[in-house]
Amino acid sequence: MADSVNGSNGGEPSPDDRINAVKDAALAALAVADSADALQEWRNQYIGRSGEVTLLLRSVGSLPAEQRAGFGQAANRLKNELEGSFDTRQAEVTAASGPAGAIDVSLPGRKPSGGRLHPITQTVREITAAFGAMGFQTVEGPEVELDRYNFNAMNIPDDHPARDMFDTFWLDRVDEEGARSILLRTHTSPMQARVMEAQDPPIRVVVPGRCYRYEATDASHEWHFNQVEVMAVDEGITFADLKGTLFEFARRVFGPERKVRFRCDFFPFVEPGVDMAVDCFNCEGDPACRICRGSRWLEILGAGMVHPDVLRRAGYDPERYSGFAAGMGVERVAMLKHGIDDIRHFYANDMRFLSQF
Ligand code: PHE
Repeated sequence: MADSVNGSNGGEPSPDDRINAVKDAALAALAVADSADALQEWRNQYIGRSGEVTLLLRSVGSLPAEQRAGFGQAANRLKNELEGSFDTRQAEVTAASGPAGAIDVSLPGRKPSGGRLHPITQTVREITAAFGAMGFQTVEGPEVELDRYNFNAMNIPDDHPARDMFDTFWLDRVDEEGARSILLRTHTSPMQARVMEAQDPPIRVVVPGRCYRYEATDASHEWHFNQVEVMAVDEGITFADLKGTLFEFARRVFGPERKVRFRCDFFPFVEPGVDMAVDCFNCEGDPACRICRGSRWLEILGAGMVHPDVLRRAGYDPERYSGFAAGMGVERVAMLKHGIDDIRHFYANDMRFLSQF
């Protein structure tokens, strides 16, 4: 048909025949190209810089003038068509062979990445387990607390200067007298009073929980953190019980070689009050130790004998019962254990940090 339109010139194939011949050969070869190498070869042979279609285009000048435009357009159409066919075929070949070009059946299976506990949760569990082994029961209490438990029951009256120690998040609620009365607890100590109100001695409890303080954040302060409160109340509890229990806790959590150091400290709800340090588990007094900075001692908690007024307020007779209490910062314990230098890492949710634990 094409011959009759364009006129045959004897033995020479017509321009349309030349184009169709290249097209048929190219499509047939493309259909069997089944690898990246074969595709590349095909590309060179047909649509590359010295490929057959390019040669067709270059031959336009040698045609009779009246055929040039039609032939040039047809050759260009063929080039576009073959480029499209090439892309399609390349996508098929890639999909069939997989992204790496081959399937390695000996590759081990992919391990699903399992979840794990946050390092602070792990530390809370370690601490409560250490006390649990000594007969302490774990209980929890409210994070939104009454002023009365957070401060008053803890021997911190409204006008007591010790309230300055706790910069408080108050809730927008006032009592009948117009005073703010609900807050985010600033420590877990209010649970001392709640536990004593709810049960009779003997008491041995640990209370893990979140606490909040309205203060600027830096490498060692967060506005939100976790504490574990410890309390034992019974007849005849003495300071020796406090020391023995906390010593054993330090050995269990920081290692069997630990020594402990007690120094006087003040908290309104204990008398006498102390803070406790354990000797550094990381160094031999090396001034470059990143955990104790050469001081050899790590302060980890506040403690003391439960103040007689706190016992009395909870309805216990301080002549008959005595007790000890302690409170520690969980983040601090975790930082010391793992040599972490910034508390903010715990709450930045960076998997590069979290997946180390
Ligand atoms: N509640 C105190 C604090 O937050 C710690 C503490 C608890 C001290 C129990 C003594 C006894 O700093």
